[in-house]
Amino acid sequence: MRRFRRLRVSPQMRAMVRETRLSKKDLIYPVFVIEGENIKKPVESMPEVCQYSVDRLEEILPRIEKSGISGILIFGIPKHKDEQATSAYDDNGVTQQAIRYIKEHYPKLIVIADVCLCEYTSHGHCGMVCGERILNDETLPLLCKMSVSLAKAGADVIAPSDMMDGRVAAIRTALDENGFADIPILSYSAKFASAYYSPFRDAAESAPGFGDRKTYQMDGANLREALREIADDIDEGADMVMVKPALAYLDVLKAARDNFALPIAAYNVSGEYAMVKAAAKLGWIDEKKIVTENLIGIKRAGADIIITYHALDAAEWLEEEL
Ligand code: PBG
Ligand code: ZN
Repeated sequence: MRRFRRLRVSPQMRAMVRETRLSKKDLIYPVFVIEGENIKKPVESMPEVCQYSVDRLEEILPRIEKSGISGILIFGIPKHKDEQATSAYDDNGVTQQAIRYIKEHYPKLIVIADVCLCEYTSHGHCGMVCGERILNDETLPLLCKMSVSLAKAGADVIAPSDMMDGRVAAIRTALDENGFADIPILSYSAKFASAYYSPFRDAAESAPGFGDRKTYQMDGANLREALREIADDIDEGADMVMVKPALAYLDVLKAARDNFALPIAAYNVSGEYAMVKAAAKLGWIDEKKIVTENLIGIKRAGADIIITYHALDAAEWLEEEL
């Protein structure tokens, strides 16, 4: 008789035949750096996530380094916002300062720099605007300037998340022309217009001042279009691609895995994190078990890299298992 249960008899047997394993090296932790001094400000909708000023990054960086994860994804929150997002490509901007500090003191942490204008524009959109229109081609030169400036500061990976068409090619050319031919691009290729981003917009102070992001981020119903976006970004020179959010889009992740050979990242976003934290706080779910199940699900669907606010906890839980 066929008995699947023979291989489930003990923790040891189950561990031996386990098909998918999470590694600390799969994980990337997002960090929010805010301009100013002596700031460590909790983000209300994201328990245990804080905005740090550069002078207080020391309160989180040692834990990140000790955790053994691959690195961080960095978001900067400037004091000054304007129509042209000038703080985004100021070589002395808050994000640039943070990257310089981190690479100087923690050279082995991979620093992935998010490239987008929404934290830097007065209107909170990811591109230049004209009236209520979000402009595509006018935005590209600013994304290029920002990418070069972040690479100059020491970023190891450039990660455009704006969803303007043609940005990967433009950024690749700009990096190459400025001596950064060796800096890879991780493109947020299939980034869906999602309600799951709302806690992040508190954390990054980047909510759009009018309208929404639906004219540039993808419609959540579209899988085939996601594959075209990814194929295009690869054509334009992306070294790695991303699917975002993760849990409601595991089919997109799986299809990307089946169709493309390059490394694929999945972003387990702020709303996914907030829901788990809220239910755990109420005692309705077991946080550790739910997070482990979610992360394994994301990996099983095809992610090589998982960006998650649970990264530091998950790394500690993995340690316990050894
Ligand atoms: C900026 C950006 C967003 C996220 C990452 N980069 C928000 C947005 O598009 O509004 C979301 C991350 C998260 O929700 O954790 N473009
Ligand atoms: Zn943006």
